[in-house]
This record gives sequence, structure tokens and C-alpha cells, in this order.
Amino acid sequence: MTPSDVKATLSFSDGSPQMDLPLYKGTIGPDVIDIRKLYAQTGKFTYDPGFLSTASCNSTITYIDGDKGELLYRGYPIEQLAVNCDYLETCYLLLYGELPNPSQKEEFVNRVTHHTMVNEQMQFFLRGFRRDAHPMAVMTGLVSALSAFYHDSTDINNPEHREIAAIRLIAKMPTLVAMAYKYTIGQPYVYPKNDLSYAGNFMHMMFATPCEEYKPNEVLVRAMDRIFTLHADHEQNASTSTVRLCGSSGTNPFAAIAAGVACLWGPAHGGANEAALNMLHDIQHQGGVAKIGEFIKQVKDKNSGVKLMGFGHRVYKNYDPRAKLMRETCHEVLNELGLQNDPLFKLAMELEKIALEDEYFVARKLYPNVDFYSGIVQRAIGIPVPLFTAIFALARTVGWIAQLNEMIGDPEYKIGRPRQLFVGATARNVKPIAQR
Ligand code: CMC
Repeated sequence: MTPSDVKATLSFSDGSPQMDLPLYKGTIGPDVIDIRKLYAQTGKFTYDPGFLSTASCNSTITYIDGDKGELLYRGYPIEQLAVNCDYLETCYLLLYGELPNPSQKEEFVNRVTHHTMVNEQMQFFLRGFRRDAHPMAVMTGLVSALSAFYHDSTDINNPEHREIAAIRLIAKMPTLVAMAYKYTIGQPYVYPKNDLSYAGNFMHMMFATPCEEYKPNEVLVRAMDRIFTLHADHEQNASTSTVRLCGSSGTNPFAAIAAGVACLWGPAHGGANEAALNMLHDIQHQGGVAKIGEFIKQVKDKNSGVKLMGFGHRVYKNYDPRAKLMRETCHEVLNELGLQNDPLFKLAMELEKIALEDEYFVARKLYPNVDFYSGIVQRAIGIPVPLFTAIFALARTVGWIAQLNEMIGDPEYKIGRPRQLFVGATARNVKPIAQR
């Protein structure tokens, strides 16, 4: 962090002494005001529910300019990474700070590939779940259970443990997601195949059966890989902040990532892809394109509780660059599968067009986010709707790990311990039960 010559001065209207607060400049993005000494010097906290104006850490990993609609991983625009690199190169970049050269890539891919199997006991753990359990409930349990299977990588303060836990998590997430799916549909688990790419192997574990040969379609594999890349990291969002906070207590890496999985499940975050597709289905059932006007009316009615899922973002106040790439992938996948006239895709395009012209959405700067089109792509690939968020978790795992490692390596890191503005009852005496 570079200190600025400018200082912020905090003054109070009640005559309390004013306080100078240091300002820091990042390489890009807004400056931050350092309030760490505020409580010690003034006895006051700041109040910022939902972290609307609070930087919780400094980071070198991901940068978003929400007004421009720009997303950079380690400085590289997402548009360039999505076209020129595959997911494992992106993982390398997020973890180690630079894109790999050919030999670094070969070694990394080789390491990840040789950690894709999970301990055979995992399937007995999985068997404890109901077959109709939500995949995210299962994933939260499975990821957490990894800490019980890999005792040699549970010390978050040991860089070697963190490194091997990182490789294991990236390698095993596809296996776990595919196992969760196979368990739900009652098919045998398919073991990883080391001669396939990361995304190809995932599709093989998802869709192959022991009965016949399965060859993943290259266009669909590329689409899957792009979904992974677009979801790999997104700076200090809710699940990443959860992982950081959870890890800040010194808990093991698998437990911290499991906390991220749990947070991601919510419909305001990773669960939005599932919710967006369900929303499109609902509109379709009610009459499709002809019913968009009525649906938009409901969305604009604050009392309806209806939101346009896949629209809006805390940071993007412009088109989410991931949504543009996802829409492109959507075209490719639907063309490949001969589904150019897919009614949900047509409905989504029409809904987007109408919303982007509507004063309500324009005034609030609500644009499509990554989840608006990712559900259509995944559904076309054959991924069942409840598994969408689990795939987001698979892809985001690398971002969570990179952010966790960054935090542990930061000499300024402390256990996260927010404070509060207490507005409840002041001290009072307990009355005997007969008098209450
Ligand atoms: N549909 C209708 N109105 C909306 C929507 C929406 N999708 N999103 C925001 N608004 C309205 C909101 O009601 C508020 O209106 P007003 O100012 O009149 O009260 C205004 O826009 C500002 O919204 P906000 O709730 O203060 O914004 P936020 O930054 O707290 O919420 C959000 C961001 C993503 C939770 C929200 O836009 C949302 O719920 N979107 C739908 C869910 C979704 O698609 N989530 C995926 C996010 S991208 C994937 C990820 O990174 O996890």
C-alpha cells in the first residue's frame, strides 16, 4: 500500500478533538482511508453493514471496475484470459501471480491431474446423504470432510500444507461434484481419467457410464472450461470474504473452503444461476415472451418480492463482462447442439432487451450478470439445474484458495472480528419466572 500525501480529517460537531486519518493509494481503484486507530483514539466504531464502503483487506489478485464493466485477474482482462488461456492456466495465474510458461503449465497440469481421485472412503460418507439432498448441501459436507481424509495438509500456517491442500482442492472438486450428481441419479461413480483435460474429465465423470464409451464433445468442453474461467475469482464477494474470515481463525483450509461453499449457495450469490433458470422456466410456462411485460411489472413492484434474477450486481453498474462472454458461449453451444431456437434462450434475450430499455433498470444501473446466461449454457450441456451452483463452487475454489493464501501471507492479517452498534436492552435484572 502506498501512503498518500493527502490525509483525511475527521471532525465532530460536539467539539471532540479532530483526527487525521492516513490515506492509501492502490495501483488502480479508489483510495482507502485507514481507520484502524479510530477506536483507540476516539472510542468510536464505523458503521457499514454489507461493507458498502469498506475495504476489508489489500489484495493483488482481482480488480473490478464496476462502472466500466472491467474484470482483471492479476492485471489480465477476463476477455483475453477467456479466449487465450484455459482454466488451469488461470488457476496458476491466480495462485502464483503470473501466467505459466509451457513447462510450468505442464508441471502444474500434471500435479493437478494426479490428485483427482478422492479417498475411497468418501463414497461411504456420501452414502449417508438422502438421494434427493441438494448438491450444495452435499458439497458443503464433502469439502469439509476432506479435512478428515488428508491429515497431512490441514495446517493453514504451513505453506507446504497450504500448497498441497490447494492442489488437492482444485483437483478433487470436479470429482466430488460428479460423485454428488451420480449419487443423486443412482448411477455408479466414474473415476477420473488422466488423459482428459480438466473440463473434459469433469464431463466424463458426469456423463459416462460403465456401459458404453463416452467421448466429451470439444465445443461443450470448451464451454465448460470457459464457465470455470469466468467464475474463478471475483475479489472480496460474500463467499470469498467468508473464506477469509473463517480462515482468519487458523482453521484448516478445507474447512475454510467449505464455509465458502455454504455462503455461495444463497440465491443472492452463487444460487442466482439456478434461480435465473427457474425464473425463465416460470415465465415460459406462463406464456413465454408475451408474458415478459407482466413479469417486469411484478419485478418493479417493491411489494411483490420478485427480482429479475441474473440482473444487478453490488459492484458492476455496467454490463458484467462475464455475461457478454457467457452470451457468446451460449450461442456456440446452442449452435453445436442444433438448439438455435431454444425457447429459453430466446426468452432470455428478449427479457434482457426489454429490461435494458426500461427506466427502472436504467436508473438503477441494473445489467445482466454472469448468471443470466450461464444457466442456459449448463442446461444445454446436460447439467441438471440444482447442480449449477455446485459447478460455480468448483470453479471458485481456486479464487478462495488464492485469497486465503494471500491473507495468511499478509503480515497485517489478524483474526476477523467486526464490531457492532448495540441497540438492544441495557443491563437489567432477571425476574423470577412467576413474575415475568
Ligand atoms: N431485480 C429487480 N430490482 C433489483 C435487482 C433485480 N435483480 N437488483 C437490484 N434491484 C434494485 C433494488 O430493489 C434497489 O432498488 P431501490 O433503490 O428502489 O430500493 C436497487 O436496485 C439497488 O439494489 P440493491 O439491492 O441495493 O443492490 P445490492 O448491491 O445490495 O444487491 C444483488 C446486489 C446482486 C444482491 C442484487 O442485484 C440482486 O439480488 N440481484 C439478483 C440476484 C443475482 O442475480 N445475483 C447474482 C450476482 S452475480 C453472481 C455472483 O457474483 O455471485
